[in-house]
Amino acid sequence: MHVVIINGSPRVQKYSNTEKIIAAFAKGLSEKEITFETYAISNRKTWDDIRNAYIKNNEILIALPLYVECVPGLLLEFLETLPKKDEQTRLSFLLQSGFAEGCQLRCGEAFLAKLPEYLGVRYGGCLVKGDNFGIRFLGEEKQAQITKPYQSMGELFAEGDGFLREEAKKFTGPEYFPLPMRLIIGFVFKTFAKKSFQKVAAMLGCRVPLDEKVWETGHNGENGAQI
Ligand SMILES: Cc1cc2nc3c(=O)[nH]c(=O)nc-3n(C[C@H](O)[C@H](O)[C@H](O)COP(=O)(O)O)c2cc1C
Repeated sequence: MHVVIINGSPRVQKYSNTEKIIAAFAKGLSEKEITFETYAISNRKTWDDIRNAYIKNNEILIALPLYVECVPGLLLEFLETLPKKDEQTRLSFLLQSGFAEGCQLRCGEAFLAKLPEYLGVRYGGCLVKGDNFGIRFLGEEKQAQITKPYQSMGELFAEGDGFLREEAKKFTGPEYFPLPMRLIIGFVFKTFAKKSFQKVAAMLGCRVPLDEKVWETGHNGENGAQI
């Protein structure tokens, strides 16, 4: 098996959490003597190379972050440039996100599950895991610690069943947090977090509350002007 791994994040490779996760995953592949090549869509100049790798190879893995509950727009744009292939090609996904509950990623997962059929290829499953907001802010040692579990998923993938096995499904962790934790998180978001988001927005030039119903007030959220 030879795997083409595509980083589907719009964020430049140096700062991309997906990139760190791919590195750990690829280590798992190497442990099992599986070869791979990696690409990143963040640099549009490489899109022809990525498309050629997609065309020439049969084992494709797209690793991507969840952006606004679904697939990043830049990745959608890239996917639209891919030609149809046949069922000899298998397309799998590694979907990772900031929020930790599995339920946050299910909409994105459902979307991705439909893609292989559009491209005429086989679906190899989707590995789903959150709790990755902070990776890029950590030092190398901590990053390695947090991304290490993805190495075992690389080893699992190397065994040939994509992410269709039970071990891959379990990797997601809790679907929902227990109720007390959900209540605490809800409280924090309605109070402290709301205040700090508002501060950041103000620094960026926002002059109205972030939960302003612009369709009712007629304000333009960006600078407070009337629409
Ligand atoms: C524009 C944007 C939208 C995001 N939307 C979500 C989201 O809806 N749910 C979530 O859990 N995380 C969300 N995140 C967090 C990212 O999924 C997370 O930080 C991820 O690890 C980023 O990977 P990357 O650095 O490779 O882009 C968002 C991040 C950005 C920048």
